Amino acid sequence: MTPVNPLAAGAAGRFVTVEGIDGAGKSSHIAALADWARARGVEVVLAREPGGTPLAEKLRGLFLHEPMDALTEALLVFAARRDHLRSVIEPALARGALVLCDRFTDSTFAYQGAGRGFDGAVLAQLEGWVQQGRQPDLTLWFDVDPAIAAQRRAAARDADRLEREDEAFFARVRGGYASRAQAAPARFARIDSSQPLDAVRADAIDALASRGWYRV
Ligand code: TYD
Repeated sequence: MTPVNPLAAGAAGRFVTVEGIDGAGKSSHIAALADWARARGVEVVLAREPGGTPLAEKLRGLFLHEPMDALTEALLVFAARRDHLRSVIEPALARGALVLCDRFTDSTFAYQGAGRGFDGAVLAQLEGWVQQGRQPDLTLWFDVDPAIAAQRRAAARDADRLEREDEAFFARVRGGYASRAQAAPARFARIDSSQPLDAVRADAIDALASRGWYRV
């Protein structure tokens, strides 16, 4: 049986994105958010970008490992996003699911825009074509100082092309997230990711719960 959201049976789903610089620790909290929602009878679809479909996962491999300029990076992530939206995200939202997506377009504005210095107006145009007005209902921004994130990355596995960027790059990416959050304060919840893991997780769940979409 397909689980239903007890507060909003039959309603359109919710699109929640999870963002932050590499090493912010966001990925480790997504499972906890999914567990919280599933325990309330909600269908949860876990997704990540770039990726989430066979085509988009191939584009992810190219994106993470082949040298390319910022426009090519932007075109690849938006191509992957288009396929992901059409094949996975939109159908899941139409069913009433909660889609929890590890990164989305705020990553493009933060990494390709603020990080690489690529033209934000071009990114906004691509966003319009690809998303046709679709925006996340909530964005959890796991925010941490780039120096702390660098330590966490060093303790983790081998770095990909983006993770090898220096601290100044990640400082610009963080600034990109801050501008996006300032421009859309109702959509963004900033989570202080320098706290101990348990406190970060509790804040993330609180941010989702406090929207009032699901029974608490
Ligand atoms: P992520 O899945 O967080 O990496 P990992 O699984 O290795 O922790 O993200 C992959 C990388 O892609 C990350 O460095 C950010 C980058 N990225 C962009 O530069 N632009 C984008 O639009 C997206 C979605 C990701």
